Amino acid sequence: MTTTATDLTLAPLRPDDAEAASALAERVWRAYDVAHHRPVRPEATAEEVAESVEGFARHAGREPEGAHAAWDDGRLVGVALARRRERLWGLSLLIVDPDAQGRGVGARLLEAALAGGADAELAMIVSSEDPRAMARYRLAGFELHPTLKATGRLAEEARAPVDGARDGDAGDLGWIDELGRSLRGARYGPDLAELAERARLVVVERGGARGWAFVREAGVVQAGATDPATARAVLRAALAATAPSEHDIAVGEEARVRLLSAAQGWAVDVAIAAGLRLSPGPPLCLRGVAPPTPYLPHGLVF
Ligand SMILES: CC(C)(COP(=O)(O)OP(=O)(O)OC[C@H]1O[C@@H](n2cnc3c(N)ncnc32)[C@H](O)[C@@H]1OP(=O)(O)O)[C@@H](O)C(=O)NCCC(=O)NCCS
Repeated sequence: MTTTATDLTLAPLRPDDAEAASALAERVWRAYDVAHHRPVRPEATAEEVAESVEGFARHAGREPEGAHAAWDDGRLVGVALARRRERLWGLSLLIVDPDAQGRGVGARLLEAALAGGADAELAMIVSSEDPRAMARYRLAGFELHPTLKATGRLAEEARAPVDGARDGDAGDLGWIDELGRSLRGARYGPDLAELAERARLVVVERGGARGWAFVREAGVVQAGATDPATARAVLRAALAATAPSEHDIAVGEEARVRLLSAAQGWAVDVAIAAGLRLSPGPPLCLRGVAPPTPYLPHGLVF
């Protein structure tokens, strides 16, 4: 089937569309792996599908002004999800069905999503490595900050305990919300508690200095701290807490940390010392803000 942008209907994504959206995401990311010569991810387990459907339904229900769907003749061909947190607007997801890509669907969805954040002072998008995505974000006026990612197998000594490190809990989310606000310019609202449901929270406290990181399987998926020395410590503790899945091990990514822009030299140093390999990653796309530091944003909640 051929989709031209003119056949499209754009509408808010509704919680009832969550299953179709989740199935679309699965198709898009599998095609993405093939197009980018990556090992194709294993088929999602029933549990992962349920989590993904719940995520779409929750977003559509809670942020109706930031949930957009593109339909072609009754078929869901694209989704954009955005969130507004105080003065920060961010794009969490932009996907177009592989059969409908390159024909302006992504442009229309992004335009609709951006309209919801037109009055936001700060804007952030963690791009994929799709050149069409990067082009779209630049065309929308974002600064593209190149980043590295660090992946591989941790050196033996990188599992050593870190002074002042411990597992975090719900009692830590308040100060993380405050500290995150001073780093990136906005609170997280409900996002931190949701992140804590799905990822392990690692915290470092040394006197008044504090830092946190969320870890999910092989990935350190968010980190921030009051200062670079504490950020280094919390990243070391987070890398030591990684627990790779079988797929992570099969593709040689037993530990992973992303979004190392030039502003995060502290994290590059930790990654090198931990024995990880640096390679080019996707750009961090920002408007109205320099890269927060010491900070590694989460791909969906920033
Ligand atoms: C990225 C994505 C959402 C874009 O949607 P799309 O409908 O395919 O894109 P569009 O047709 O609206 O626009 C693509 C733009 O990129 C440009 N483009 C196409 N191929 C390109 C290339 N190889 N390099 C640079 N720019 C390119 C096109 O010129 C077009 O710009 P124009 O409309 O000003 O001419 C879609 O391709 C997709 O789902 N990709 C996989 C998932 C993904 O990476 N999502 C981004 C998450 S951050």
